[in-house]
Amino acid sequence: MTEELQRKTTVVNRWITDLAPVGGGYHGSIFEAVNYSVKAGGKRIRPVLSLAVCEMLGGSEEDVMPFACAIEFIHTYSLIHDDLPCMDDDDLRRGLPTSHKKFGEALALLAGDALLNHAFEVMSNAHVPSGIAVEMIKTVSHAGGIWGMIGGQVIDMKGADTYEELVTLYRMKTGALITAAGQIGVIAAKSKDESVFSAVSAYTDNLGIAFQIRDDLLDVLGDEQLLGKRVGHDEATGKRTFVSSLGIDGARMALEEYTQNAKKSLSVFGERAAFLSALADYLLQREH
Ligand code: IPE
Ligand code: IPE
Ligand code: MG
Ligand code: MG
Ligand code: MG
Repeated sequence: MTEELQRKTTVVNRWITDLAPVGGGYHGSIFEAVNYSVKAGGKRIRPVLSLAVCEMLGGSEEDVMPFACAIEFIHTYSLIHDDLPCMDDDDLRRGLPTSHKKFGEALALLAGDALLNHAFEVMSNAHVPSGIAVEMIKTVSHAGGIWGMIGGQVIDMKGADTYEELVTLYRMKTGALITAAGQIGVIAAKSKDESVFSAVSAYTDNLGIAFQIRDDLLDVLGDEQLLGKRVGHDEATGKRTFVSSLGIDGARMALEEYTQNAKKSLSVFGERAAFLSALADYLLQREH
């Protein structure tokens, strides 16, 4: 499993290098700022998921990767903005000073904006039939916007008042892009089977919530060096998380349950889903 994860991550990183914006001129600093955050690393879980789903369904790397990278560009922009002083006010990301620490707030804001636009440019330039391109662009724009990641960030800033609201918040701020990553894998593979789409969506929906619960646990139990970002932030700001709601053991149980549900959703694929199933277990235990 880890070998396969490494292989897929290498493929993803090659595509990201190819599709990241290059240039210079009077506005050279924006290329530097954008590439600083994109190339700082990151686990690349979202594009790896897209690739894995697409490969499982017999689709091609060429068809899915521009859209998978677009999701990673949007995710990276969401992190740059999430770290800004007006949001989480963090100094460390992907093991490096955050974008605004390195380049100042104005350029960090623009680097995020640039990555969002670049994501759509990359998707529009992809060499896939226009029907499926539009389907994927629809999926990604919905997940990154008001109904997904941005909506979730809005609830996060306000603070969730109930456990139910907290689950919705996780489903939106983190789950939406992860779910879109799985769905574009199905669309790129040109699968027309509704049950395939809903099985992959159920898998990624549960996986996305599990992923954020693990992020909460790591904020309490994790190692700053390994994570490449600050720990202890959630408690310091007193925000409701799975850990503050259920305690460490309760959060672990919830993580286990969402992971099990994710894996159960894959039963229709049998052995073909071995990698996706192992990935869910791997993410349950991740240390960064
Ligand atoms: C961090 O995402 C923010 C969350 C949505 C929990 P990742 O843990 O995927 O961050 P990178 O991309 O690996 O840096
Ligand atoms: C991240 O949530 C959600 C985003 C959409 C960026 P967090 O604020 O918990 O992510 P980290 O812990 O800073 O990576
Ligand atoms: Mg945040
Ligand atoms: Mg944050
Ligand atoms: Mg966090």
